[in-house]
Amino acid sequence: MSLVKRLHHITVCVGGAQEDIDFQTEVFGQRLIKQTVLFDGRYAHYHLYYANANAEPGSVYTTFPYNRVQGRPGSGQIQSTAYAVPKGSLKFWTEHLSRHKAKHEGIQERFGQKFVRFSHPSGIQLEVLEDDSDKRKGWTTKDVTGDVATRGFHGPVLSVREIPETERFFVDALGFRKTGEEGPYHRFEIGEGGAARTVTLLHEPDRPSGSWIFGAGTAHHLALEVESDEKLAEQKALYDELGYTDASEIKDRMYFHSVYCRCPGGILVECAANVPKGFAIDEPADQLGTSLLLPPWFEARRQEVEAMLEPIKVPEGNMPAGARKVPVNAPAPAPAAAKAASAAEQPAGGAAASRRTSAVFIGGDTSKK
Ligand SMILES: [Fe+2]
Repeated sequence: MSLVKRLHHITVCVGGAQEDIDFQTEVFGQRLIKQTVLFDGRYAHYHLYYANANAEPGSVYTTFPYNRVQGRPGSGQIQSTAYAVPKGSLKFWTEHLSRHKAKHEGIQERFGQKFVRFSHPSGIQLEVLEDDSDKRKGWTTKDVTGDVATRGFHGPVLSVREIPETERFFVDALGFRKTGEEGPYHRFEIGEGGAARTVTLLHEPDRPSGSWIFGAGTAHHLALEVESDEKLAEQKALYDELGYTDASEIKDRMYFHSVYCRCPGGILVECAANVPKGFAIDEPADQLGTSLLLPPWFEARRQEVEAMLEPIKVPEGNMPAGARKVPVNAPAPAPAAAKAASAAEQPAGGAAASRRTSAVFIGGDTSKK
């Protein structure tokens, strides 16, 4: 029985913040569920979270708008992220993407499933892939209705120069099994398989390595869900046992706790355990994503942080009914921050998570310093 249950989130670096919000919500039909900031480093960057209607792990796509540095796409990176959509919806998606001038490659097929790959404005690659067995609830907008909306991830496609050692990592360290090979594609699934439980390796032996830095236009890491802090500690011990001794310490990411490990093909893999309340730990579940939330330990420096960030506007469609006029970057209500601080003091399960609580900010997400 593997410690990993399914995909948790996928994190990428895009260009401008508002450009990302507009594309993800209005074109791709995602629900903006969280506005916060990158917890590491000396520059203030947004960290934006998108998901399906129920904000479920396995649908959470997070972006760092990172105009300050350009990344280099290549092997050793997530090449694209496939989302499950209902059968018969690809005609809508090709027309919809063309109407919004999003570059796409038409309908292709992999392991008997039709998909369309397209470009986010930053160059990040996304896919919509037909899978009728996925019954999760998609977020809907004026243009993206329930019969075509994305259900959540099907899974990422990872570009690697060699298959064997990455295969060993996914099978031995994470519990996946190989379920298919077709041309350059090698498919791995976990648990019951299918949507949110699939990872596909793409063999590209001659492709130069992509960058590992935070850099616009490149994916940064994928995260897999484990059940609890105890399981996270067990996963870290398993990495050690197998010889993957460069796994990180357990980190407090506010909404979940994380361990990172770089796999042999170069892709950064995180394992994440949800904290109680998850994304509703610092704002009401029906108002997710409507205001900028800072971790409690940065709340006192809100003005300084906000001044370094690009002003953004959350689309009307994302607003909960009755709260259409939430001001841009409205401060989190103090009680929520206080509650979150106290919850964060006591990570469930006893595995102490480390947290960076101070920073000397020297610039923002568009700074050229
Ligand atoms: Fe992550």
